[in-house]
Amino acid sequence: MESLNEQQLQALATALAAKLQAGDVLLLDGDLGAGKTSFTKGLASGLGIADYIKSPTFTIIREYQDGRLPLYHMDIYRLEDGGAGDLGLEEYFEGDGVSVVEWPEFLGDALPEAYLMIHFHKDPAHDDLRQLSYTAVGPRAQALLADLT
Ligand SMILES: Nc1ncnc2c1ncn2[C@@H]1O[C@H](COP(=O)(O)OP(=O)(O)OP(=O)(O)O)[C@@H](O)[C@H]1O
Ligand SMILES: [Mg+2]
Repeated sequence: MESLNEQQLQALATALAAKLQAGDVLLLDGDLGAGKTSFTKGLASGLGIADYIKSPTFTIIREYQDGRLPLYHMDIYRLEDGGAGDLGLEEYFEGDGVSVVEWPEFLGDALPEAYLMIHFHKDPAHDDLRQLSYTAVGPRAQALLADLT
């Protein structure tokens, strides 16, 4: 599997951003420090968002409205004990922007019907490299994945 440094990972995200449409959902799966937020930063850049803020611990959802499409960045790590179902996430998923979710395993019943899941793996041999794999659910995610790989 190909390994990417941080710059390459962000460049991939920036390229993906150009293909995104309203209603697309990206689920970012991987351990602490795997690069999910770093990837989101590249995505934000590709959408033309100027004021991207690295997600602070106590904000679950951040909205960015100044890019080509709205970006809804959700980090639901703190919902590991449940509660994602109460956030009304469907409104974001079906909204007029792009949704990005870190720690999607905590979505529970709020898991959307269609999504592109990106799995982040630390390269066991190199601290500064990451490997990505993908799970595409639904035709839209499959089209995105075909463009990406
Ligand atoms: N190839 C790489 N790709 C992405 N990040 C890398 C890479 N190599 C090193 N890093 C570093 O790994 C860290 C990734 O942090 P990041 O906040 O993106 O992780 P995360 O998956 O969002 O973690 P969390 O679950 O805590 O939110 C950063 O410090 C980044 O500089
Ligand atoms: Mg993060």
